[in-house]
Amino acid sequence: MSSTSVHEPATEWGRVLFRPRRFGHVNMYVGDLEASYAFYHDLLGLEFAFDEPGLDAKFLSNGNSHHDLALMQSSARELVGRDGLVQKSSRIGASPGLNHLAFEMPTEALLVAAIRRGEEQGLKVHRYYDHLISRSVYLPDPDANELEIYSDSTPDWRELFESLGDQLLSARWTPEADGPPSEAHNYVDELDHRPVPGAPVQPLRTANATIVVADLERSVSFYESVVGLTELEADHGEGRWAILSGTLGLPDFMVLEASDGDTVGFHHFGLELPDAETVDAAAARLGSAGVTVERTVDHARKHSAVVLDPDGVPVELFARPAGSESVTFASVAAQVDRAFLL
Ligand SMILES: [Fe+2]
Repeated sequence: MSSTSVHEPATEWGRVLFRPRRFGHVNMYVGDLEASYAFYHDLLGLEFAFDEPGLDAKFLSNGNSHHDLALMQSSARELVGRDGLVQKSSRIGASPGLNHLAFEMPTEALLVAAIRRGEEQGLKVHRYYDHLISRSVYLPDPDANELEIYSDSTPDWRELFESLGDQLLSARWTPEADGPPSEAHNYVDELDHRPVPGAPVQPLRTANATIVVADLERSVSFYESVVGLTELEADHGEGRWAILSGTLGLPDFMVLEASDGDTVGFHHFGLELPDAETVDAAAARLGSAGVTVERTVDHARKHSAVVLDPDGVPVELFARPAGSESVTFASVAAQVDRAFLL
């Protein structure tokens, strides 16, 4: 298998580096870990996967990976990893907000090959981590959003989590220090969704994320050439948005240029449900549980209800109507606030 392709086009950012399969997870600093966990687990139905008591972190899954969502308690304290090294300085994560957005690589070998191409081109990598479940690099996008690009280290994350107990997960990673990188495809191929009993929402997956950017062209160029996503659809004219995809071809990442009043940064993420009826039933049940539905979207490409988490982050519960794959996002753009187009 060729993991060091020389056929990538040269761009403003150099050659295409990573080429992830898909958007993987959101990791957020939250104001009150227990409140956020209750919201995402008890109400939104994401399965508990693992916690790191020493880090005040909880990982939730809906069966697509070891975590589809990570919640970290915001604080001004330093966090130290499994190797005793500082993982988070006191300056980072002091208040609620995005920690990072993660993209899943097919194999560690492809991740390491991309890292080596990046090193040759002076790519700015913040951190290299071995999380036991995965190996990762972290780098900033043009608006200083932190991205994680990772490959899974085991096909059975549940078994690994069970064997770890209360152990901390993360330590510095030196690629290839323990031999050639693995060519195994360890990502979850078959969904193993274990619904949370009694939860009003039973989402299938953390399906997408939308960010607001300062400069659409600059961000699209970065996400195409450095991250290695593909632009599926875009409006580089009036609309100023682009929908991007990993190699799976899923519409799972949207960048939107800020206009008056928009704050640059993470905007919201989406949880996919099976169908429109499930979305409506979930919204009604959340309403009964005291959660306000902030908006609904209903057009040929999407049926959704948007709720706010305890920190005010919008979470969109959505389903794709039958036949929606043949409908372009551009054709429904006029019907919806562009931030909720994807
Ligand atoms: Fe992560």
